[in-house]
Amino acid sequence: MRRIPIVLCSCALLLATLPVSASDQDVIQFREAIMKTMNEQSAALGEIAAGSIPDDNLVAHMQVIALAASTALKAFEPKVPGGEAKPDVWANWADFSKRMMDFAQQTAAGAKIAKTQGKDAAMVQLINYADSCKGCHDMYRQNKN
Ligand code: HEC
Repeated sequence: MRRIPIVLCSCALLLATLPVSASDQDVIQFREAIMKTMNEQSAALGEIAAGSIPDDNLVAHMQVIALAASTALKAFEPKVPGGEAKPDVWANWADFSKRMMDFAQQTAAGAKIAKTQGKDAAMVQLINYADSCKGCHDMYRQNKN
């Protein structure tokens, strides 16, 4: 009977130590998943712009980007360098978070413009999005290799 508390104790230790490194990986995967979502939706919009797929869901694709962008900052809040994120994300947090919030606003406005003004107006928005993606990546993203 006396052994039981010892067993419980070592289990608790395991639980306390294991998730720490796993959760760093989770944090990185989470923010990369959101970026990938925006990337895939941008790819769909690129195909619409090229006329290679139907444009029926143009507004919906733009809404998905806006929704993903609105969740992105939360995913970067934990200060976990790694993946392709430069440490500058957290060193320059005020600038980084402003860029991300501006991007969320820009894409929300872009989705509205697409809905109310149609395809041509939406396409102009996409060019502005690309500038925002690139502007932030130039500052805060590095290639893994
Ligand atoms: C405010 C800054 C910011 C904006 C805006 C932004 N990104 Fe990113 N993006 C990052 C950072 C930082 C990373 C690196 C994340 C990591 O690997 O931990 C990243 C990573 C990525 C990745 C790589 C994900 C992976 O699997 O490693 C893709 C793809 C990507 N972004 C696409 C986009 C697209 C498309 C847009 C615009 C529609 C965009 N991003 C807008 C900051 C931004």
